[in-house]
Amino acid sequence: MNLRAFLANLEQTGDLRNIQEAVSPTFDVARLIYKYDGNALLFDNLQDFPGWRMAAGITARRDLLARALGCETEELVYKMAEAASNPQPVEIVENAACQEVVLENPDLTRIPIPRYHPEDGGPYITAGVTVIHDPDYGRNISFHRWMRLDSQHLVGRIVEKRGTATALSKSPEGLPIAICLGVPPQVLLAAAMSPPKGVDEMTIAQAMATTPITQCLSVPLEVPAEAELVLEGILTHEQNTEGPFPDLTGTMDGIRQQPTFVVKKVTHRHNPIFHALLPAGLEHKNLMGMPREPTIYAEVNKVVKCTGVRITPGGCSWLHAVVQIEKQGPDDGPKAIEAAFRGHTSLKHVVVVDNDINIYNMADVEWAIATRTQAETDLYIFYNQPSSSLDPSARQVPGEKARTSKIGLDATIPWGQPKAGYKRISY
Ligand SMILES: Cc1cc2nc3c(=O)[nH]c(=O)nc-3n(C[C@H](O)[C@H](O)[C@H](O)COP(=O)(O)O)c2cc1C
Repeated sequence: MNLRAFLANLEQTGDLRNIQEAVSPTFDVARLIYKYDGNALLFDNLQDFPGWRMAAGITARRDLLARALGCETEELVYKMAEAASNPQPVEIVENAACQEVVLENPDLTRIPIPRYHPEDGGPYITAGVTVIHDPDYGRNISFHRWMRLDSQHLVGRIVEKRGTATALSKSPEGLPIAICLGVPPQVLLAAAMSPPKGVDEMTIAQAMATTPITQCLSVPLEVPAEAELVLEGILTHEQNTEGPFPDLTGTMDGIRQQPTFVVKKVTHRHNPIFHALLPAGLEHKNLMGMPREPTIYAEVNKVVKCTGVRITPGGCSWLHAVVQIEKQGPDDGPKAIEAAFRGHTSLKHVVVVDNDINIYNMADVEWAIATRTQAETDLYIFYNQPSSSLDPSARQVPGEKARTSKIGLDATIPWGQPKAGYKRISY
């Protein structure tokens, strides 16, 4: 399902909030996404940008994302895991929708790139899926935020040692890239995944839902044919100042020298829909956290019977998880804790619960903690562990992996205890 079909579906079921008043991409849009966080929004009337619309929050709700992928909410983890282990070949098409309009001398100031917060370094593209071709590993798609410098240049946050940074380091003349906006939901989800090197995320997207691709016009890359907007050009070795900009944690990330993108050509659909993603909003959280659930699930399932995993929004959808198991032995709780940390190395706190606990209801999880744990036997502390660079409280030494302490809490019913005392009554 492409973005337009998805929005039409949401509108039909009353799950899309249309904002018809005139709004500016500078601050207005961010304030409204923040106000209605958790809702899919369509801004019909963008001040100073006639012909453009803006969508936001389209993956902010799991049930809606599940609908886009044709599965139940609880099945999303399995759908992603299944797609990651069975990627499918992608079909290349001609006359693609994303190239209905071709701009030869593009001017980035004519695109409604939002400015989210007064402290930001500039206007930012946040929902852009960047397509690259690595000389050794082939196509790779991933997210990078891009700050507009002027009418033809963006500077990106290109995290060191990951796919885009590695490919750039192998390309002395610069790396051809394409930044795609308004892509189908399955492409958003696949771009946020980290499969082993050499696995093309576009083929994972295809395994979740049909994702035709098309050749770019000025760079040797293929992009989702139904994207709303594509910026083609070269990622150079020239560095520029990037930031400040908010992190997933809702705290401000600092300023760095980062690679500059020179835009060569822009293509888009008629009346394009720009996808705005609020930093630290629920859409950002879902896209970051959800793809880690299948990796935790896979690791935990190697050692105990795992029946569910949820990365929780209160933990920035990155640092906290709840793991649900069907307990079959006395050590299943601690085994699941250790496996969860292996499944997502940035994880800092994990709670393991039995399968009578609803992992989508934090009050239920807290109830399990309240009635099933004793710190002296059920709390596991791991000191001086490698951790997430996103955690402001971690010990951060420039050039080194951040370090932290981690906690696992086994909130399952103790093995061998009469279960009756632990059962919750229902009415
Ligand atoms: C919404 C969102 C925004 C992201 N922003 C960035 C970013 O600005 N820079 C970056 O390097 N990674 C960013 N990431 C993370 C990468 O997309 C992610 O780690 C990806 O899986 C890296 O894959 P790779 O190692 O194959 O390149 C973001 C992820 C999401 C979901």
